[in-house]
Amino acid sequence: MTTARSISILGATGSIGDSTSDIVLANPDAFHVAALVGYSNVEKLAERACMLNAKRAIIADERHYKSLKEALSGHAIDVAAGRLAVIDCASEPVDLVVCAMVGSPGIEPAMAAITAGNTIALANKEALVCAGAVMTKHAAENGVRILPLDSEHNALFQVFEEPNRESIEKLTVTASGGPFRTWSTEQIKTAKLSDALNHPNWTMGQKVTIDSATLANKGLEVIEAHHLFAMGPDQIDVVVHPQSIIHGMVHYKDGSVLAQLGMPDMRTPIAAALAWPDRFEAPQVQRLDLARLANLTFEPPDLQRFPMLKLAFDAMREGRAAPALFNAANEVAVRAFVDGRCAFHQIATIVAKTIEDAGGGTASSVFATLEDVLAADRLGQRIANAVVKDRLYS
Ligand SMILES: NC(=O)c1ccc[n+]([C@@H]2O[C@H](COP(=O)([O-])OP(=O)(O)OC[C@H]3O[C@@H](n4cnc5c(N)ncnc54)[C@H](OP(=O)(O)O)[C@@H]3O)[C@@H](O)[C@H]2O)c1
Repeated sequence: MTTARSISILGATGSIGDSTSDIVLANPDAFHVAALVGYSNVEKLAERACMLNAKRAIIADERHYKSLKEALSGHAIDVAAGRLAVIDCASEPVDLVVCAMVGSPGIEPAMAAITAGNTIALANKEALVCAGAVMTKHAAENGVRILPLDSEHNALFQVFEEPNRESIEKLTVTASGGPFRTWSTEQIKTAKLSDALNHPNWTMGQKVTIDSATLANKGLEVIEAHHLFAMGPDQIDVVVHPQSIIHGMVHYKDGSVLAQLGMPDMRTPIAAALAWPDRFEAPQVQRLDLARLANLTFEPPDLQRFPMLKLAFDAMREGRAAPALFNAANEVAVRAFVDGRCAFHQIATIVAKTIEDAGGGTASSVFATLEDVLAADRLGQRIANAVVKDRLYS
């Protein structure tokens, strides 16, 4: 790579933001940082902006504008705040926008980046799950490439032979199985927040860690794969692979299966996406030693104990508004679990009840615009909040 490219990082204060910063710092001539976006963590955003020599720092929660301004006084870094400033930042022409905010607030910035013609590196799976075909169509119309940052999708991207698309039978995304892989249904009913946050392999933000424990994360990833690779719902499956060494597999019609392997460290897929079509240094990543690992094991997912995965498959098959409702209800239910307003196993009940009450995919007769996507997200949040508040779940 010869000339430095410009990059903006949305969600710069999160776990993906940390790993992205590591890769940018390890390849100092590859990028200049146009902007960093955080939501509430002023101290970390200010520190990151200085460390990465960013031109702008934006705090999405405008109540923190003054403190960010103070923290960056004396530095030649522009400061802005609020939702519209984030959308503005995503719209600023750069070579790459890393979309790593958590949840549906990432939908509008991702769409804005695409409208501006910016290549996006997508970690914020919820945005693509909600917007689905609306986002991929928008990207195609604007000639924008969506580079997958999620480890499973980045793995698939590395072994997906686009010119041989017709020869691809199916995709497999692997799942660690999360902390409750070996727990019985009765044990899962007793799961505490600390249990759900105790992921065996990955260190991640709170929401995605809980999603990994319910397997909602795998469900979101299946829907994400459906849109990123334009594969049918029956061409995507999940296998539980507790060691998290193989991240994704593409099955070809001659019986070949191409897989990408690596240690469970997000800096590898991030380096691969940021450097694409080249390769970057990821010096911090431990190298894979298969002889030492010795065993790679696989098992089918249990949809009885992990109903969120089944609900996600159902939402993908139903299409239109259903995935956005699934996602919105999950975001509300996860927040309720974190706040102690519902039990872990009730997350799935809340999501199922919300989708049913909203009318599933038919909640939206037309699902073709960003406004339709945002309306489905709002509807799902409203119904799920009512389900939680009135305890309409058991
Ligand atoms: N972590 C992983 O290993 C991993 C792997 C694959 C995919 N992902 C996906 O990547 C995304 C980020 O995950 P994460 O683990 O990095 O989450 P995280 O550690 O919780 O970080 C979330 C980031 O989003 C920001 N944010 C939260 N609410 C926001 C809002 N309303 N507007 C703007 N920014 C907001 C946070 O800002 P503050 O911290 O300043 O509040 C933070 O920068 C998620 O969609 C997740 O599913 C994560």
